[in-house]
Amino acid sequence: MVKPKVLVTRRWPAAVEARLADEFDVVLSKRDVAMKPCEFRQAFKEFDAVLPTVTDKIGAEAMELSKPRTKLLANYGVGFTHIDLPSANAHGMIVTNTPDVLSECTADLAMTLMLMAARRAGEGEREVREGRWTGWRPTHLVGTKVSGKTLGIVGFGRIGQEMARRAHHGFGMDIIVHNRSRVAPEILAQYNAVQAEDLDDLLPRCDFVSLHCPGGAENRHLINSRRLDLMRPGAFLINTARGEVINEHDLVQALTFETIGGAALDVFDGEPNIAQTLLDSDRLVMLPHLGSATAEAREEMGFRAMQNLRAFFDGQTPPDRVN
Ligand code: DGY
Repeated sequence: MVKPKVLVTRRWPAAVEARLADEFDVVLSKRDVAMKPCEFRQAFKEFDAVLPTVTDKIGAEAMELSKPRTKLLANYGVGFTHIDLPSANAHGMIVTNTPDVLSECTADLAMTLMLMAARRAGEGEREVREGRWTGWRPTHLVGTKVSGKTLGIVGFGRIGQEMARRAHHGFGMDIIVHNRSRVAPEILAQYNAVQAEDLDDLLPRCDFVSLHCPGGAENRHLINSRRLDLMRPGAFLINTARGEVINEHDLVQALTFETIGGAALDVFDGEPNIAQTLLDSDRLVMLPHLGSATAEAREEMGFRAMQNLRAFFDGQTPPDRVN
């Protein structure tokens, strides 16, 4: 039987690449760099399925071709706002993602960021490495207590709920959530959480606000100067969702004028380019999009994408279809 032709756009964990090579006529990425729109147009003519990830901007330009051979985009990652769904639909392409398998690790990283920002861990590490530490003193790098405080979670899907589990059951935090739809009372009850009326209602009530909503046009600049002004003066903003959810210019203003306590970002608008004003801010913790970066999660993401591939080529609906 002829094996389906499959293109993987970036290097994947070795165990998954080996399994893909067993089951499919696969072309693996050697260069491991983001593909350009013209490269996608060519790939869509040659391959039955393409396996992209967040660094692949598959917008209208990449989709400008007639009668593509590709009928499945099995994305490696849970977020898929880098893929133009209306164009995919117009071409009859099915798009899938890899939910669940990265929720715990992404929530672990959001906790890491929250603790780092509150306890000034980035500043402390820089001080030690640069040889500036002069020894213990009662007023040295004094941060903010996390345990028992109130955490606002924006977007109460799988990752948001894992964040609530850690914060509530591990750190005794009170949880307030904002979500597009009503969250079932039995889910809220697991974390003794309450659902805010809307985002503007949540922000002034929280010591920490962690973003777990999708990116894309719908949530672009959801956090802007007006909403930053609604946050408590000492509050911290954590983003492991997508860079575009925050207006970074407005965030820099809030940090500079100390209208909020600090922020911690794992994702950036236009990443991997980071605005100099962000780099210059000492009240900001920054990581290079590490949310799902554990050996365990990254393998599981690959195997989850393969489940979608197998189902599709077996003539079934892939389990993680998003369009
Ligand atoms: C995700 O899974 O969406 C991660 O951010 C990587 O794309």
